[in-house]
Amino acid sequence: MINDIGGLLLAAPAVQTAPVIRSLLAGAGGYLPRRVLGNEELALSVDTSDAWIRERTGIRQRHIAGPDETACSMGAAAARSALAAAGVAPQGIDAVIVATSTPDQAFPATAVSIQHALGIPGGFGFDVSAACTGFIYALGVVDAFIRAGQIRRALVIGTEVYSRILDWQDRTTCVLFGDGAGAILLTAGEGSGTGADHGLLSTHLHSDGAHADILYVDGAVGRRDRPGTLRMNGREVFRHAVARMAEVVDEALAANNLTHADLDWLVPHQANLRIINAMGRRLQLPPERVIVTVDRHANTSAASIPLALAEGLADGRIRPGHLVLMEALGGGLTWGSALLRV
Ligand code: COA
Repeated sequence: MINDIGGLLLAAPAVQTAPVIRSLLAGAGGYLPRRVLGNEELALSVDTSDAWIRERTGIRQRHIAGPDETACSMGAAAARSALAAAGVAPQGIDAVIVATSTPDQAFPATAVSIQHALGIPGGFGFDVSAACTGFIYALGVVDAFIRAGQIRRALVIGTEVYSRILDWQDRTTCVLFGDGAGAILLTAGEGSGTGADHGLLSTHLHSDGAHADILYVDGAVGRRDRPGTLRMNGREVFRHAVARMAEVVDEALAANNLTHADLDWLVPHQANLRIINAMGRRLQLPPERVIVTVDRHANTSAASIPLALAEGLADGRIRPGHLVLMEALGGGLTWGSALLRV
């Protein structure tokens, strides 16, 4: 830059713009329990039918954890697969952040157990509790650490065994959920350089305890009288899900000066195909640009988005450079979005 002051030509020192540090997606993986429970088999033990479940939710089957499978074991398996996809050794990981509402124990945190199971020698780990929005919350937390320069490589994991907090006689809830885990590896890197910004462009997190009574677990490890079972007013949750997620996707696009036409993929929380289709229509995305796993996995809560993302990446639908919008709503209520350029 040349400044012309009073006839003297002064060469100003070149301004060094610091590279924008972003959380870049390095790999993803998933794990599903071996045991598959189809709608028809479920209808043998509770008053429901394959036709009702498919028509109202799009769910055909769900995976159910065996006695040897836990949030830790499944989360570790998903994380191993994310590390393998990224070609990164566990030794280089700075942080393990796990979103779960169904941890193995009150403490140690599932994240710390997974850190140990993977042989990660240093760094730190903790769990995030935000029900079905947990993975979006975990992304927001990790992104802040990475942007602040405190960590460079983090595993972000969603892992759930809802089969252990369901009332298997309550047909209004037990047909909706399944078990599983998904994980991604985020690494610090330059966000720009190839023109478009890459990596996690934004996360937006929200909660409102005023609606705690429409989706909750009526107990906890800390209560002597009851370990807790999931309770839900499905209609009310449905209403809030459509309204809040519509707000949050608009918020994400506006914050990044983007429109729905810029999106390549919607990777939504997988609770109900009707909610997913409503969001797809709102974003004017054809069904083939929306990743759907709810038909095979049911609702795996915090694991559903990373499982769907891992599937889309593994089968080549989601490719480098694609813009991916993730959104979720869960008990709390909690809701949020994350926008990622792969
Ligand atoms: N099998 C058969 N019938 C069932 C049933 C089941 N599994 N579950 C409920 N029913 C019955 C109800 O008892 C009711 O019968 P009634 O009319 O005789 O009282 C009827 O089906 C309709 O129930 P309703 O709750 O109005 O159905 P719905 O169309 O709202 O669908 C959900 C129910 C749960 C599928 C739907 O509300 C939903 O998906 N909500 C959001 C849930 C969610 O996403 N939760 C997780 C968020 S993270």
